[in-house]
Amino acid sequence: MKVAVLRERRAGETRVAATPETVKKLAGLGCTVAVEAGAGLASGITDAAYAEAGAEVAADPAAALSGAGIVLKVRAPLSAGEGEVDEMALIPRGALLVGTLSADAAAAEAYARAGIDACAMELLPRITRAQSMDVLSSQANLAGYRAVVEAAAAYGRAFPLLMTAAGTVPAANVFVMGAGVAGLQAIATARRLGARVSATDVRPAAKEEIKSLGAAFVGYEDEESREAQTAGGYARQLSAAFYAKQAEVVAAHLPKQDIVICTALVQGRKAPTLVSAEMVASMRPGSVIVDIAAEAGGNCALTKPGEATVTGNGVTILGFRNWPGRIPAAASALYARNLLTFLSTFWDKAEKRPNLPAEDEIVKGVLLSRGGAVVHPAFAPAAAA
Ligand code: NAI
Repeated sequence: MKVAVLRERRAGETRVAATPETVKKLAGLGCTVAVEAGAGLASGITDAAYAEAGAEVAADPAAALSGAGIVLKVRAPLSAGEGEVDEMALIPRGALLVGTLSADAAAAEAYARAGIDACAMELLPRITRAQSMDVLSSQANLAGYRAVVEAAAAYGRAFPLLMTAAGTVPAANVFVMGAGVAGLQAIATARRLGARVSATDVRPAAKEEIKSLGAAFVGYEDEESREAQTAGGYARQLSAAFYAKQAEVVAAHLPKQDIVICTALVQGRKAPTLVSAEMVASMRPGSVIVDIAAEAGGNCALTKPGEATVTGNGVTILGFRNWPGRIPAAASALYARNLLTFLSTFWDKAEKRPNLPAEDEIVKGVLLSRGGAVVHPAFAPAAAA
């Protein structure tokens, strides 16, 4: 079984779906691995390092994909008109594609038409057994860390209290909005840097997690927020009345904050707007807002997705996209291990090939298409009807 690993071509993507470590382990499963030349460079991995691990270094996507039975990607392959190469057309019919594919009904249909069995890893169910394959968690964790480090770099003062002969530099007040995987790592990182940290979330479980990391909980709770968590572990979309109450609490807290790390998401929807233009106007000059929800529209009304901006009152807003891609070597290492764990969990050792049982909860969660048909319950034609 040949595994192909492509150089990611989507704008700003610095990660790669396999590392020399996972190449060796794929060989251990009985695979040959072809890595496109330059695939790892932005993550600090040379072609020579892949070759040393036993991979064939392929000159271009066509050579890497020729005869491949498995294709590992970070982002969805490019289709005709999306870039310099039509990667979709080069993937052999019957191949298994594994990546974060921004799945929707149209994408599932396109994979089915191309005869590609596509696994969208961002749809992985949040169950204990799937934790070690959970690409959203591994990447969000690093994004949370990186957001705080970049906030510290953009902040003109210090995070810890510094007592010097020339006087005292006060500790920074850091407010983390959304205490899921990214937010909890942001809290831990800001605490390690010596800041005074507070955080908010709507899921009841998050409150205890915030406190257990030594941060203060700041938030609005009522009957509605007690039911704010879905069975899948995500936050629900809440009522306008709830968000208005939450906004009052946030508005009172923000003028005293130096750094705001925004991580709040509601699955399948635009990120909730939690910081209004008026709230930004109430903040002190020199404050920094890092909006890692920017990719989903942002938690701050003034965030310009993809950009760093400074407001009229001197608040810096970092709205970059792809935060895991800003810490690419670590992000690639964890992502590649997630994919390897997924493959080895569903590996037929005797046949040396993947075997994805249709009734398995993880397979049901991620598999979009199989044998030329859309199979995912959310995207199958029956669901649409
Ligand atoms: P996420 O990325 O979808 O959202 C980030 C955070 O924003 C969440 O904590 C959410 O509650 C919060 N949020 C949404 N609306 C908000 C609002 N109006 N104000 C403040 N915060 C708001 O969530 P993430 O980080 O992917 O995971 C959420 C939870 O899922 C985790 O904390 C954990 O309990 C669970 N989980 C379970 C896993 C497993 O068992 N395999 C793996 C990963 C997460």
